Amino acid sequence: MKDANFLTAHNAQNVWHPMSYPGALKETPPKIIVGAEGVEIIDVNGHRLLDGVGGLWNMNLGYSNAPIKAAIAKQLDRLPYYSIFNGTTHDMAIELSVMLAEFFAPDGLSRAFFTSGGSDSVEITLRLARQYHKIRGEAGRVKFLSLKKGYHGTHTLGASVNGNTAFRTSYEPLMPGCFHIPAPNPYRNPFDESDPAQLAQLCLAALEAEIDFQSADTIAAFIMEPILGAGGVIVPHESFMPGVREICDRHGILLISDEVITAFGRTGDSTGARHWGVKPDLLSCAKAITNGYFPFGAAMISDQVAEVFEKDESGRAGLYTGYTYSGHPVGAAAALACLQETTRLNVPANAAARGTQLFDGIVALQDKHELIGHVRGGHGLMTAVELVSDRSAKTPLDAASMKVIHGTAYEAGVMLRVSGNNLIMSPPLIITPEDVEKILAAIDHALSTAAA
Ligand SMILES: Cc1ncc(COP(=O)(O)O)c(C=O)c1O
Repeated sequence: MKDANFLTAHNAQNVWHPMSYPGALKETPPKIIVGAEGVEIIDVNGHRLLDGVGGLWNMNLGYSNAPIKAAIAKQLDRLPYYSIFNGTTHDMAIELSVMLAEFFAPDGLSRAFFTSGGSDSVEITLRLARQYHKIRGEAGRVKFLSLKKGYHGTHTLGASVNGNTAFRTSYEPLMPGCFHIPAPNPYRNPFDESDPAQLAQLCLAALEAEIDFQSADTIAAFIMEPILGAGGVIVPHESFMPGVREICDRHGILLISDEVITAFGRTGDSTGARHWGVKPDLLSCAKAITNGYFPFGAAMISDQVAEVFEKDESGRAGLYTGYTYSGHPVGAAAALACLQETTRLNVPANAAARGTQLFDGIVALQDKHELIGHVRGGHGLMTAVELVSDRSAKTPLDAASMKVIHGTAYEAGVMLRVSGNNLIMSPPLIITPEDVEKILAAIDHALSTAAA
């Protein structure tokens, strides 16, 4: 490794960082992380921090999982790559497909299409949804519906169903035929409705109205995150996703559960769809499938959708899509070890318990800190705090204050994620009660500093 002077001098000079302004990063360079251990990261100055962000929602098992690392090293030695395009496969892809079928059996999903990451997985589910209807002779079903504030990655189809303005405008025009309905966020919504159950009904009515307006026979699928992550941890009322399922069924529309964040335990259940008691037609996953140690993902397919493809007699079921690294043997080996570890450590149970502790702790801080406008979470280890400078007007806290909060928590030894006026927490799912107390203390201290 080059020394700290070299790294600091060249930081953000020759690399453009995703989700950032290239010019601004030259002025305020990113933190340089050079090591990690357990649930902690270590920066270039040797400062250790509890990683409240969990990498990027993917380090469910932390940074020191020995079985996954060993599986990767072993696979690199034995078979570092082979393709699974038409005509060849390898043992790891076969083994992983069996393990995933077992893992997702309660969700009714039994076939996997492997990818290189979350955006790829989303793209495949959207493509398969259109193709499914074409095979069945409903070629007119090409449109997609999704939620405002939803995040579905950055490929052009995924970006088209994204519901966040910032991720859309610079790259428009996006794909035609994508339409959005309001997200069930009780803090900010066009209905001015703060009751989550009532709001769920209003959003479902908006979905139904949009289907009527577009005409159901033009719509391929509805895609949603069971709990919206990047949009600021928006937790729908428990009636929402089952309501979406019922509407989709009634109109012949496929339901895609985008679980790039929520699959593998983050909500306190093995999948987000299961958390709400819903069986989707298609599911996208990535991130924690390898604990972030290798770029890998999967689109999971239900028995019913699979049957349409596998029993096709129309000649339209060819899967003319996929990636060089689909089913990469090293990624598949990592995923196999990761799934075993996820089960062995029973991480969903810890995510549920620690998630409640974190959520309750921040709710308690609301009495002390006027800056806390809304606390979202309480379903596993996905928590967001929306900060405001005026509670009654819900005025978003300014960027300079958000920077102070982030910097103060960093100095106190906790990495938080700032997204607009939200603080987002998605720590590893193996954190202890003491780790949660540390996160809460850092937030408490940072909010006091910003308010002073
Ligand atoms: C719900 C959801 N879908 C898709 C993606 C895109 O995944 P990736 O960044 O691996 O392409 C993300 C990334 O955070 C996500 O949260």
